[in-house]
Amino acid sequence: MSSLFVDRAAALLFWGLTSAVSAFAAELSVPYVPTPQEVVERMLQIAKVGPGDYLIDLGSGDGRIVITAAKKHGARGFGVDLDPQRIRESNENARRAGVTDRVAFYQRDLFDTDLGEATVITMYLLPRVNLELRPRLLQLKPGTRIVSHDFSMDDWKPDAHVAMDAKDKYGGSGGKSDIYFWVVPARVAGTWRWELPVAGKPRAYEVTLEQRYQVLSGAVRVGDRTVKLQNARLSGEEIRFSFTAGVNGAPVKHEFRGKVDGDAIGGSATLSGARIEGQLQWNARRGARPAVAPRDTGLRLSQSSRGAFN
Ligand SMILES: C[S@@+](CC[C@H](N)C(=O)[O-])C[C@H]1O[C@@H](n2cnc3c(N)ncnc32)[C@H](O)[C@@H]1O
Repeated sequence: MSSLFVDRAAALLFWGLTSAVSAFAAELSVPYVPTPQEVVERMLQIAKVGPGDYLIDLGSGDGRIVITAAKKHGARGFGVDLDPQRIRESNENARRAGVTDRVAFYQRDLFDTDLGEATVITMYLLPRVNLELRPRLLQLKPGTRIVSHDFSMDDWKPDAHVAMDAKDKYGGSGGKSDIYFWVVPARVAGTWRWELPVAGKPRAYEVTLEQRYQVLSGAVRVGDRTVKLQNARLSGEEIRFSFTAGVNGAPVKHEFRGKVDGDAIGGSATLSGARIEGQLQWNARRGARPAVAPRDTGLRLSQSSRGAFN
């Protein structure tokens, strides 16, 4: 039997016993099992929580994640829990930590909680609860970070996964903890068009992007050629990809990097080839025909040297 299986079996037994003695077991989607403090600290580090953040802990227990985010990282936020005993403990813990001006705790069902203000969501729930929440999480502002203790989200693969030993887990018996991290991806599927002024002429580009969560693939049409995208990446609203396409018969590497805002992307394009090299402003639109490229700025072919940029 694998050690992972033993660890998961022990966890489920522990969770089962805990829920059996809870007065709220009938209503709770998940029993109360606190995240060990060392795991809390690591979750907040992985999400790079800082003073600009608003963190919401779904099923907040004794409030430790929200309180640590406020006390150690200067964040604001709130926790929700159905159990009034947990809310009382959280308010007392917040008072002792001196963070009552930055945190709040509400006795509320996590499924009835508005998540719109969050820049970071934390959760220590169960796989089926994570999956029930998943459609709502995917609707959050692109760039919202999500950290889950121990449970993943099926085919929405995490952007990062860390496994660690946690000696205080399960009331001090110790165990392994998994931390899963996602960034809510912008919705970028579709056809994007733009023009770049290259070698004295506007060149039209048309990229068709396919998206599965944060994983992108696609192809670009330049002139009468279609080439596959390489290194396509999406993190929140930050997008990048590259491809190699011919300019006047010579291969030129094109690297694009930008920020998605609805049906627009703004950023930069870096072109490099034997006779052409430089950076241009990049503005793409989804669905629309391209705007005419500016006439006076752009990359020109150099007959003799690399680095011609007029
Ligand atoms: C595993 S504990 C995690 C506590 C805390 N987030 C932590 O990591 O230390 C799950 C918590 O979710 C709460 N809970 C379960 N179902 C809930 C629901 N539908 N709405 C709000 N809270 C819920 C439980 O009372 C419990 O405190």
